[in-house]
Amino acid sequence: MADFANPFGMNVNRKLTNEELAQAIRMDISGELEAIYLYDAHVQATDNKAAIKVLSDIRDEEKAHVGELMTLLRILDPKEAEFFISGEEEVKELMEELDKETAVNTPSSTIGSLIKED
Ligand SMILES: [Fe+2]
Repeated sequence: MADFANPFGMNVNRKLTNEELAQAIRMDISGELEAIYLYDAHVQATDNKAAIKVLSDIRDEEKAHVGELMTLLRILDPKEAEFFISGEEEVKELMEELDKETAVNTPSSTIGSLIKED
């Protein structure tokens, strides 16, 4: 059974500050992520091709919504955007380390690769 949020929970008798709006957008992002998870679970749980086609399309639209909301959040909270960039850079560094480790552990030639085939 769905657990819908109180539709009036976020309503206030004034306009939201940018900080409050950023909080609301974070909640919206969590809703989009939950929707992606649910649609994908339903796609994985059926062999019905029509359902897979439609639900996959909706799931992917939700992914675009996450991107839109993340972009809006970066505008509303530039300091948070700096943390996002910092996290991206950390992962890139880890991937570079992984590439170097993989290159070290992967021999460029093997005995098999030295045998010439006619
Ligand atoms: Fe959405």
